[in-house]
Amino acid sequence: MDAQPLDGKVAIVTGAGGGIGRVYARGLAEAGAAVVLADLTTGSAEEGAAEIAAAGGRAIAVTTDVTSEESVAELAAKAAEAFGRIDILVNNAALMAEIPAGDGLTGIALDMWNKVLAVNLTGPLLCTRAVVPHMREQGYGKIVNQSSGGAFTPSGSYGVTKLGLVSMTLSLARELAPAGIRVNAIAPGFTNTDAGLRSTPPEYRGFIEMTVPFPFGEPDDLLGALIFLSSHASDWVTGHTLNVDGGWIPRT
Ligand SMILES: NC(=O)c1ccc[n+]([C@@H]2O[C@H](COP(=O)([O-])OP(=O)(O)OC[C@H]3O[C@@H](n4cnc5c(N)ncnc54)[C@H](O)[C@@H]3O)[C@@H](O)[C@H]2O)c1
Repeated sequence: MDAQPLDGKVAIVTGAGGGIGRVYARGLAEAGAAVVLADLTTGSAEEGAAEIAAAGGRAIAVTTDVTSEESVAELAAKAAEAFGRIDILVNNAALMAEIPAGDGLTGIALDMWNKVLAVNLTGPLLCTRAVVPHMREQGYGKIVNQSSGGAFTPSGSYGVTKLGLVSMTLSLARELAPAGIRVNAIAPGFTNTDAGLRSTPPEYRGFIEMTVPFPFGEPDDLLGALIFLSSHASDWVTGHTLNVDGGWIPRT
């Protein structure tokens, strides 16, 4: 791979304030892209943007609620205003650790269910709709949806949304191909972030350690897949969900 595969490209990462999203933003910047870090929580996204700038990259932070059409329209407008184009959208923002453990699908409060769907599924759709006009005009774009191994294992409302994203990826890939836009997804395994740790009960960690070939990964372990799916190297790949999970899903 080229040393700077994303030179001249502009990327938006949602949920970039912390965890995996912040590492994604840094990785895209290191690969040459100018990056827009979008998150509900402004301070941490700003810190991420400052870190990228301190390392010689280009980045801005934009306070964004992915569930609001108005907010994501503003995000796309600010990205285009700051950097002149939008080539890459990474739909990473999601609720995971916030979902009460053990409620299952029969017990989850309706408000929480609606919130999970709004952030994890409607959010990626709204962000996609906001950037597509820019990508259409350029005749090129890359959308990467952050799914999860939880899409393919019983994972309650979270799993429902993450499998929904796999389906959204397939439909958008077909729909947006005439515009030169590729749409793929990454399905990470157990990744060491605060949210990841909070959503994996200690008793389950032992089971994971016994059964998954490479049980736990770091956010950096996802960067190879992200850069591949964001760059020209994957131009003949669309509608694909790439498991990056230490062998978790092939095991089942
Ligand atoms: N950590 C894991 O083990 C793991 C595994 C598989 C998939 N994932 C996925 O990776 C992504 C990041 O996970 P993480 O562990 O970094 O979690 P995280 O909770 O640290 O990151 C989620 C980010 O999304 C932001 N966010 C929440 N609601 C938002 C909204 N309405 N608008 C904008 N931003 C919003 C949060 O502020 C947060 O910064 C998620 O999509 C998650 O489902 C994580």
